[in-house]
Order: sequence, then C-alpha cells, then structure tokens
Amino acid sequence: MRAPNVPHTLLIDRIGVLVTNDPGNGPGALGRVEDAALVVADGRVSWIGPAAGAPAADVRVDADGRCLIPGFVDSHSHIVFAGDRSAEFAARMSGRPYQAGGIRTTVAATREATDAQLRAGAVRLFHEARAQGTTTLEIKTGYGLTTADEERCARIAAQLTDEVTFLGAHVVPPEYADDPAGYTALVTGDMLTACAPHARWIDVFCENGAFDADAARTILAAGREHGLLPRVHGNQLGPGPGVALAVEAGAASVDHCTYLSAQDVAALAEAATRSDPTVATLLPGVDFSTRQPYPDARALIDAGATVALAGDCNPGSCFTSSIAFCIALAVRETGMTPDEALWAATAGGAAALRRSDVGALRVGARADMVLLDAPDPVYLAYRPGVPQVAAVWKDGVLAAG
Ligand code: NIG
Ligand code: FE
Repeated sequence: MRAPNVPHTLLIDRIGVLVTNDPGNGPGALGRVEDAALVVADGRVSWIGPAAGAPAADVRVDADGRCLIPGFVDSHSHIVFAGDRSAEFAARMSGRPYQAGGIRTTVAATREATDAQLRAGAVRLFHEARAQGTTTLEIKTGYGLTTADEERCARIAAQLTDEVTFLGAHVVPPEYADDPAGYTALVTGDMLTACAPHARWIDVFCENGAFDADAARTILAAGREHGLLPRVHGNQLGPGPGVALAVEAGAASVDHCTYLSAQDVAALAEAATRSDPTVATLLPGVDFSTRQPYPDARALIDAGATVALAGDCNPGSCFTSSIAFCIALAVRETGMTPDEALWAATAGGAAALRRSDVGALRVGARADMVLLDAPDPVYLAYRPGVPQVAAVWKDGVLAAG
C-alpha cells in the first residue's frame, strides 16, 4: 500500500544533464541525455525523454538546468561500531603506519556498547551518507567477533539495508590469538549459523595479519553452504592472494586492490567477462587516510576489469561517508576519468552487489536519484569538498534536500 505522502507520479524536468548509465553505452559511459525529463511512478522510473515532451505528473520538480544522476551505490561500509580512533589517525599522519591490529581497538569498544548505542551510531552514519547521495549502502559486521556480538551487529545492519555482509573473519580476536584455527572454526560454525539469517554476503579479510588464503577459502565455502555469496577484502596492505582467491571463489567483488600484480589485473579482466563477474572495488578514501599508495584504476580499466568505487566508512582506515570525496580522489589519484569515477560509484557499485535495479536511471529501475547543484557531473571532482547535493530520492521518495 502506498504511504499517503508518496505522490503517484513525479516529474523532474529541465534536467541539464541526465546520467542514465544506460548499459548500451558500455562500462564507464554515462549515457548522458541533455535537456531531459524523467517521470517516476510507484517508486520506479517510468519515462525518460526530452523535456519538451514530458507527460504531466502529480508533482513537478524543476531541475533548472542542473544534473540528475543515479544515487550512489556504496558497496562497502563498516558503520556498526562503537568507540573512536581519531588518535590513531593523528599518529598515522605523523608517520606511524596503518596496521590491521587497530581493528581490535574498535572490537573492544563495540563489545562494551549496548544495542541502542550501536544502532544509534549506525543510524547516524547511514543518514549522513544518504544526505550526501548514497541510496544503496552495504553494511558489514566485523567489530563484534563473538557469536553474540556479530549476531547483534548483523541484526542492526539488517534494520538499515538489505545488503548485509557477515565479516566475522575480519581479524582473529585477542582471545583466540594462540588458536587462529579455533577462531576459523567458530566463524564457520556457530557464528555463521547465527548471522546468516540477517545477511546476504560473507566477506573475509585475506591479508597478512588477518586470514591466509586457506582459511579464507574455508570461510567463503562455509558461507556458501549457508546461502551467503562471497566477497573479499584483499591486496590492501601489500601484495597477496586476495584477488586470486576472490576470482577462484567467484566472489562478487574484491575490495581495496591497492597492491596488484600483473597476474591479478589479468585475473580481474578475465573475471569481468564471466556471467557472474568479480568486480574490483577501489576504496581510495582508505589509501588517503592510511597514507598508502593509490590503486591503479587505469591499468584495471584498460585491461577490461569492471571497477567499482566505494567508501569503506569505518573508524580505523577511512572515516568518511562522502562518495563525492572518493570520486574526487579517484579522479586525481587513480587514473580514472570523471565519467569513469561516477560510473564506478553508481553502476560499478551495483555490479559489485549484483544488483540490476539500482545504479542506473532507465525505465523500470528504482527511482534512486541525486539532483546535483551543478551543471555537469564533472563538478563532483572539479569542486572537491563542496556540498553539491540539492536533493536525494530513494524509491521516488524525497529522502534529503
Ligand atoms: O576495510 N581491511 C580491513 N577492514 C577495514 C579496516 C577497519 C579498521 O581499521 O577498523 C578496511 O579498511
Ligand atoms: Fe573494509
């Protein structure tokens, strides 16, 4: 049943540039339509065409020459947590390296927090992201690392999104420091059983200091047995087996990809041709906040890999909820064109979540849209750090602006 305040039809007209991401134009091509209009009916895009020919609707919004883009699809976040690691960030900016072990600081604080505190923090970050144009947000567990704490993090995440990822395999918690195999057994046993009903995905941090390829393979296979689809954190802190493992496991995405070998790039290019591709998701906000090198998006795209951009909002390696900031970084630092970066943060994110209903504005797609206070989407990178979101619609309903 339709809520009483949801208009039956919404017309947005006098759109200066409409970004459709029409798949007919291929990855990275925005499918721009100039001087366009778009109609929404029952939460879906129902008509796109020249402004002059637009049908009437219950509600009309005059875009006044500004651009309308698909809402950002942020396929990677860790927003269910407690505690603060700003001192760790400050220490890094004075030369201390980033280490995965910092995750344990957040684990300790998260275990101490009440459900209400965890929920309030996640809700705040979720709405912060929404107000900046993120209309689909994946949310991971991974700061509980006991069965009860992972289960409540997954439950809280599921109250905010359909894209919940079980990341019990984030790091080995201190109580299992001498028994990492015992922790893998817990993750693939009781913890997985408790979390799987809330989740769509299973993820593993496959990196030195976290989980090796054998443990990661075991964990992803156990997730599949519970109906969870694999995704991987890999090649973040150095070269390693994450990408190869993700491609072997048929993961929807391998995220970070900061340190890639030529073989990794070739494997991702091959995986992009499959019916269920493995996407390379870049998280340049992490490389910014950890003072790491940036990934080479140019090499990936030129080789034929499908590249997504995501935020990785978390208290340790990257505490931003701004996809516009990530787009600006990707353009400046990873070799992406402005068009490729916007595509990667919308259609690319949708590919990384294996979603065909979001990330594009075509007839039948969800009316998840952002009106930018800008005449062209290049302004996202051209005016870094400047708020340019005039309005956000989720399923055709005004969510911000
Ligand atoms: O995606 N790589 C592992 N996990 C997070 C970092 C989390 C943290 O430092 O708390 C990431 O960067
Ligand atoms: Fe992450």
